[in-house]
Amino acid sequence: GEYSRAVKLINLSPARSFSGKFVVEVEHVPTGKLLTKRTFPARLAAGDTAEFQIQFKADVAEFYSARYIFEQEGAAFPAVAQEEVPFLLTPEPPETPRINGPSVYGARPGHPFLYAIPATGKRPMSFSAEGLPQGLALDTTTGIISGEVELRGKYPVKLIAENDLGRAEKEFLIAIGDTLALTPPMGWNSWNCWGLTVSAEKIRATADLMVSTGLRDHGWMFVNIDDGWEAPKRAPNGEIQPNEKFPDMKALADYVHAKGLKLGIYSSPGPRTCGGYLGSYGHEYQDAATWAKWGIDYLKYDWCSYGRIAKDHSLPELQKPYRLMRKALDAVDRDIVYSLCQYGMGEVWKWGAQVGGNLWRTTGDITDTWESMSGIGFGQAELYPYAGPGHWNDPDMLVVGWVGWSEHLHRTRLTVNEQYTHISLWSLLSAPLLLGCDFSRLNAFTLNLLTNDEVLAVNQDPLGKQARRVLQKDDFQVWMKDLSDGSKAVGIFNLGEKRAEFTLRWEEIGLAPRQSVRDLWRQKDLGEFADEFRASVNRHGVVLIKVSPAE
Ligand code: GAL
Repeated sequence: GEYSRAVKLINLSPARSFSGKFVVEVEHVPTGKLLTKRTFPARLAAGDTAEFQIQFKADVAEFYSARYIFEQEGAAFPAVAQEEVPFLLTPEPPETPRINGPSVYGARPGHPFLYAIPATGKRPMSFSAEGLPQGLALDTTTGIISGEVELRGKYPVKLIAENDLGRAEKEFLIAIGDTLALTPPMGWNSWNCWGLTVSAEKIRATADLMVSTGLRDHGWMFVNIDDGWEAPKRAPNGEIQPNEKFPDMKALADYVHAKGLKLGIYSSPGPRTCGGYLGSYGHEYQDAATWAKWGIDYLKYDWCSYGRIAKDHSLPELQKPYRLMRKALDAVDRDIVYSLCQYGMGEVWKWGAQVGGNLWRTTGDITDTWESMSGIGFGQAELYPYAGPGHWNDPDMLVVGWVGWSEHLHRTRLTVNEQYTHISLWSLLSAPLLLGCDFSRLNAFTLNLLTNDEVLAVNQDPLGKQARRVLQKDDFQVWMKDLSDGSKAVGIFNLGEKRAEFTLRWEEIGLAPRQSVRDLWRQKDLGEFADEFRASVNRHGVVLIKVSPAE
């Protein structure tokens, strides 16, 4: 609840000096009340910078906005900058054990199995399980399940976590068959963060932080290397090799696996990747085998220079390289989640599953602006029929935290409310959740945003339905997702430039007249609502609720 900010006022003029007042106002947005207002004299010679330290106390769960105003003597208009003050909606998890993550997990028979039970609560914690299929063993102190199951089948398991304050149980279905990614993959990918400057060191650090920040305890699992790991030349036997930034891929995979996490990699069906590195063209079977040997669990396969190989953009040509890699992946003795990346060409959502993809990008690259994120996210409305367990639409990776696509990172340009919208919308869309930020710079806000188990449960719901846009009115959009327990997750989004009221009539979205409502971000029951539900929604913000028919 204690906020501080350093604000710089810069005089860019090489010749003129300015004087006036620098004013800071912090407003409680829902009531419009001023929390604090401070005025400082400001005199800046040509080229000068003045720095102001601002401190105030506020309720962390409430939404405030800060305005920084320079009122120049004699000028008609002030210079104004404004920003949203981060607010935390996710309640702290209890100290008693709680098992998070999906309720179903798929793996193939006879392949290495790895799953770390995500659980919050005070450590030490001890784990156990009832009904584990033959071939699997559970490490009772880490909660990591590993081994290999020979027999196909659906194995209902009871996961148990205990500490000195209590005990938690969770029904968990292990499905040994052909389908991976029964719920959307969750994890991290290096691209939005480090771009081509990714290295083994950064991957290890990310894996360490996935555990030490507690993200793993909420189901974040993959650590994926994007472009930039490949050596300029293959080995004499044709084998793809990592460059000097990745001295030992197998050792890296072992390191990541020891933490119960999974390692992903990236390639292109063309001769070159998008970053100009070596692709898999002509070496598909060999590369899949090499990745399996290293211990890779996830492949992002990016079209890039395959445009020079394909005869045209007909469906068979668009599908060909992806079918080929599918066969190559099927030939290895490892589960490798298969992510198609070709930006939506040929309406890939209509055939991505058919060619064996577990997910497919539906658009071009995302960046950390409202225009990009909202354009992509709200542009997914027609794609809901194509998502389901094992095959997901991928509107690209997340742009929260510190991003930068290079060594040079910056705080996401999305506002606080835009970030709530981003995570809520991607959860409703059943989109893969791949972070792309520097974990060493995760702050209290970003961590709070990424660890809401009720919001993540919307994303990980085993029914695997993608939300539909059920209402569009003025600046508002309402998206609704069917959940496996018969309830619905509903997001009320305000795409407008001002905080505004919205009245959602149950009838308009096909629901019965009395509904029980739970606020998912605050994890709080709001009660029963007859006919309608009213919400004030922040600029570019969201109210995310779960509704079920009242008894
Ligand atoms: C792009 C892709 C990005 C990233 C990049 C690497 O085509 O959409 O997500 O993988 O290539 O070069």
